[in-house]
Amino acid sequence: MQSLTQLRKLGLFDARVPRYTSYPTAPQFKAGDWAGTVANWLEAIPAGSHVSLYVHVPFCRRLCWFCACRTQGTQTAEPVAAYVKTLQKELKLVQRHLADGIEIEHLHWGGGTPTLLEPQMIADLAGAIFDVAPLAEGAQFSVEIDPTEVDGARLDALAAAGLNRASIGVQDFDPMIQEVIGRPQSYEVTRDAVTLLRERGIRSLNVDLLYGLPHQTDARITDSVNKVTSLGPDRIALFGYAHVPWMSKRQQLIPTEALPTPEARLELYNTARDLFVADGFEEIGIDHFAKPDDGLAIAHRNGTMHRNFQGYTEDKSTSMIPVGASSIGRFPQGYAQNEPSTSKYQERVRKGELATAKGHAFVGDDHVRGRIIELLLCDFRVDFNAVATENAVAPETVIAMADGLDDVLPGTTLLQDGVLTILDDARPLARIIARYFDAYEMSASGHSQAV
Ligand SMILES: C[S@@+](CC[C@H](N)C(=O)[O-])C[C@H]1O[C@@H](n2cnc3c(N)ncnc32)[C@H](O)[C@@H]1O
Ligand code: SF4
Repeated sequence: MQSLTQLRKLGLFDARVPRYTSYPTAPQFKAGDWAGTVANWLEAIPAGSHVSLYVHVPFCRRLCWFCACRTQGTQTAEPVAAYVKTLQKELKLVQRHLADGIEIEHLHWGGGTPTLLEPQMIADLAGAIFDVAPLAEGAQFSVEIDPTEVDGARLDALAAAGLNRASIGVQDFDPMIQEVIGRPQSYEVTRDAVTLLRERGIRSLNVDLLYGLPHQTDARITDSVNKVTSLGPDRIALFGYAHVPWMSKRQQLIPTEALPTPEARLELYNTARDLFVADGFEEIGIDHFAKPDDGLAIAHRNGTMHRNFQGYTEDKSTSMIPVGASSIGRFPQGYAQNEPSTSKYQERVRKGELATAKGHAFVGDDHVRGRIIELLLCDFRVDFNAVATENAVAPETVIAMADGLDDVLPGTTLLQDGVLTILDDARPLARIIARYFDAYEMSASGHSQAV
C-alpha cells in the first residue's frame, strides 16, 4: 500500500517526467538533414494502405497563459491564409513520394486553434489533403476547437469536409481560475459550441479539463465536472496541468504560490474521477474517461488502444504523416518532426523541400521498450512474453528489462508469470514506472539501464 508520503517520495506528478506520447520522446530527436530519409519512409508506405495524417495549425486569436502548446497569436487572417497556402504546397510535396491508392484512416487537425481558419480556407485545406489521399470508409476526422473561436459557418465547412469528431478545450469553468490562467470562457459559450457540433452530426465529442490549476479546490473542480457532464460529452481528457515556465514563457504569469501541492493534485484528480465514473464514464489510462459505447472505451476493453502524439487513440495505422510547422509523424522506421518555427517551415516548403528538421530512426530495442511503455500507460500492465513474440525477441531479454525496478520503485508493481502490473494505488506513478523502461532517460539520469 502506497502512502501519500511514499508516492511523493517516489516523485508523484513530477512535471519533468515525459507523458510518453512517443518512444523515444521528442527531446531525443536529432536535428539533421532528414528530408531524404523521410522521403524514403513515405515511399515505403505500401500502395493501397491506410495511414493517419496530422495537420498542425500554430495560430490562436488569444494566447492563454497556462498553455504549453506550440502556437502563436494573430489578430488578422493574412498569416493564417499564407500558412494554409504553405500547407497546400507541403501536401503536394508529400504526394510526390506516396504510392497509389493510399487512404486516410485518421485525420486530425490540431494546434493552436484550427477553427481560426475561415470557411474557404477549411475547404481549400481539406481539398488539398484529399487530393493526396481520400478519407477511407469509416475514417475518423477530428479537430481541436476553442469554443470561443468557432461558429456555424466554419463548422459547416468542416462538416462538409467529413468532420465526425471534435475536441473542445474547457480547462475549468471557475471564473477566478479562468482569470489567473488567462482563459476566460463562459459555460454558455461552451454549451453553444457543443450544440453547433451536435447539430452537425459530431458523434464523438471530447472535452479537455485540467486538474492542478492555481486556486483549484475540490469544490471548484466538482462544479466544473458537473458543468462538463451536463454538456453530454463522449470522452474526457483530464490532464494534469504541467507548469513548465522555463519552456512556456506565458506561464510566468501564473501565480506559482497558488498551485496545489502534489497531494492536493491527486485529491483533485480523484474527486473528478469519482464524479465521471458516477456519471457512467469508464476510466482509461492515466488521464482519460469515455462513455462505454465510445470507440476509445471499446478499444480499451479490447486491449487495442494505442498512445500517440494526440494521446490515447483507437488509431492503429503504422504511419502518421506530419503536415505543418512542428508537426511530428511516425513511420515503422522512426519519427520525423517538421521545423518548429513557422517562418523556417514556410521557407523550407517554399524552396520545394520536405520540412523535416528533426528525427529519430529506430535502433536496437526501441520497438520493444516503446511497446512496454505504451502498454503500461494504456493498460497499467504488460505481458512481457507477448511483447517478445510481437517483436520476435527472446522473452528473457524483455523480462530482464524490469530487473531492479522493485529496488528503485519499491511496492509499485507486481511481476508474476512474465506479466508486470502497476498496483492500483501506484497508478499516479505510471509515467515514472514507464520511465524505468526508457533507456535514453535512464542512461541520462545515471541509472543502470543502458541504451
Ligand atoms: C493544443 S490545445 C488546443 C485547444 C484549443 N485551442 C482550445 O483552446 O480549446 C489542447 C489541450 O492541451 C492542453 N494543455 C495545454 N497546455 C497545457 C498544460 N500546460 N498542461 C496540461 N495540458 C495543457 C489543454 O487541455 C488544451 O485544451
Ligand atoms: S489553449 Fe488553445 S487557444 Fe489557448 S493558447 Fe493554447 S492552443 Fe491557443
